[in-house]
Amino acid sequence: MEIKRIGIIMNGVTGRMGTNQHLARSITAIIKQGGIQVGNDLVIMPDPILTGRRDHALKALADKYGHDARGKAFKYTTDVQGALDGKYGEYDIFFDASGTLQRAGFIEQAVKAGKAIYCEKPTAVETKEAVRLAKLVDAAGLKNGVVQDKLWLPGFRKLNMLKKQDFFGKILSVKGDFGYWVFTGMGNDQPAQRPSWNYRAEDGGGIMIDMFCHWRYVIDHLFGPIQSLVAHGSTDIAERRAENGTPYTCTADDSAYAMFLLEDGTMVQFNSSWCTRVRRDDLLTIQVDGVKGSAVAGLREVKTQAAVNTPKPVWNPDIPQPIDFLGGWEHVPNNIEYDNAFKIQWEMFIKHVVLDEAWNDSLMEGAKGVQLAELGMKSWKERKWVDVPELG
Ligand SMILES: NC(=O)c1ccc[n+]([C@@H]2O[C@H](COP(=O)([O-])OP(=O)(O)OC[C@H]3O[C@@H](n4cnc5c(N)ncnc54)[C@H](O)[C@@H]3O)[C@@H](O)[C@H]2O)c1
Repeated sequence: MEIKRIGIIMNGVTGRMGTNQHLARSITAIIKQGGIQVGNDLVIMPDPILTGRRDHALKALADKYGHDARGKAFKYTTDVQGALDGKYGEYDIFFDASGTLQRAGFIEQAVKAGKAIYCEKPTAVETKEAVRLAKLVDAAGLKNGVVQDKLWLPGFRKLNMLKKQDFFGKILSVKGDFGYWVFTGMGNDQPAQRPSWNYRAEDGGGIMIDMFCHWRYVIDHLFGPIQSLVAHGSTDIAERRAENGTPYTCTADDSAYAMFLLEDGTMVQFNSSWCTRVRRDDLLTIQVDGVKGSAVAGLREVKTQAAVNTPKPVWNPDIPQPIDFLGGWEHVPNNIEYDNAFKIQWEMFIKHVVLDEAWNDSLMEGAKGVQLAELGMKSWKERKWVDVPELG
């Protein structure tokens, strides 16, 4: 059995996504499971070096997750350029989960060093810049990818299964409802649970740029190409409190409402809000209505109602509702174990780099998400429907 080491520079890992999804639940989990088994003869074993600005924070993560994964601390350094230059060993992949506005600079550094590049979304806040970065890595002939984790969530995999089995028949419409209450931090004992830059446009924040990137690849992969959209955004909460305890003025949209018309005529609506309280099955639910049946997906679970199980409501507000609408749905069972969505995509990217396996989630695909967000802003500001042109 050959064990092939793959060196990964993990940048921005002290952040929320970097620590939880990428370091803990992806790379550490892959090492703990014994690497990525390929056939009977090969195991690919990740070996990360953690990079960032704060030495003590990196050390704490390197100790904790290194010991958890393999009984010895991971390497770490604040010298990102040194890591790219091979000063601390050989590394093939550069991964970035730093703030959105820092992404371009780090990608440019990694391109110069000739690394395979993988990063969080969005790759930029403007389409022009996202396309420039995609072309930069392509021109350098580097393997590259952007996180599109939602595709591997159990709920969406089940939706895909239903679609492939033609459970829906013709799909008529799709309704996505995303969001939850993000505390402002202004009240007692209710600290904010998301980073403050998310609510400042000048720091790359805003719910459209954050969430429309996801809606783009979810819609493209599950329901088909988008022809046009109309969107409206709002800054619902004017003031929040930052991590350092200081109040700040919110300059970014924290709720967004969009209708996406697909090329085949399907209407897809998405409400996205950090200022809404949850009374649905999950933080994100997607209802698909088809001629032969409907389904509602949460992050993990899916409920279905086939045409033959559809109750017949009659409008009569003068009596208590006689139908138990929530009771009329069936549960799609978990017939397999679903792994962490980020980890699945990591394993695919690593196999793409090491074994040249097929890969679709390039920086150019990521740029399509930025494009949808930018077009959403345009529609909102100009108060009109806008078409989605092909990117190139
Ligand atoms: N895929 C998803 O579902 C998902 C979810 C949330 C966020 N994100 C994306 O992930 C990225 C990080 O978001 P987060 O919520 O973890 O934010 P965060 O604020 O928790 O983390 C940002 C990280 O970047 C580092 N950083 C900031 N400025 C830097 C600089 N100048 N140089 C080096 N490092 C710097 C910070 O130290 C921190 O480690 C963002 O681009 C965000 O859009 C993706």
